[in-house]
Amino acid sequence: MSRPVFLIGYRGAGKTEVARQLGPLLGWPWLDADTLLEERAGRTIRQIFADEGEPGFRAKEAAIIQELSLLQDHIIATGGGVILRADNRAALKRGAVVWLHAPSETLWQRMQADAMTAERRPNLAQGGIAEIEAMLRVRLPLYQECQDFAVDTSVLAPGQAATTIAEWLQRRD
Ligand code: S3P
Repeated sequence: MSRPVFLIGYRGAGKTEVARQLGPLLGWPWLDADTLLEERAGRTIRQIFADEGEPGFRAKEAAIIQELSLLQDHIIATGGGVILRADNRAALKRGAVVWLHAPSETLWQRMQADAMTAERRPNLAQGGIAEIEAMLRVRLPLYQECQDFAVDTSVLAPGQAATTIAEWLQRRD
């Protein structure tokens, strides 16, 4: 039995797709913390933000992260803002934390191409690349603080990123 693997990083970094591809490599189930949150709430994240504001969403997110941090042998894709709360960062550290990152230009292009972003999640990029860069100025030190391993997904396809992570986990065992 092993600690869970958490994938962290900004929207567009590839967390969900890499989790999907890492699952079969490790033989572990994967799940997306935001999807689980939406299933439990019976609402999309966009609706939760509209009904309860960001604090309501962050409280739900924190409860789910605490719960998921106690799992064994799971891969968990997280929401991009999970690192904002100290209690989440402590919970993530119960697992192995992999940070997926890419230049803001790449994140911006991927976010524009992702239809699900518009439907399900609050728009984090109304201000374009400048807004992403402003968010990253706050978040980069927190992603850095949490991560045990970092992967640049602008140079690796999701399958390659998954293989790189699986190899790193094997080296650690
Ligand atoms: C958020 C990112 C979203 C989701 C919520 C808030 C953020 O997840 O958790 O909309 O603050 O960066 P993704 O990173 O999967 O888009």
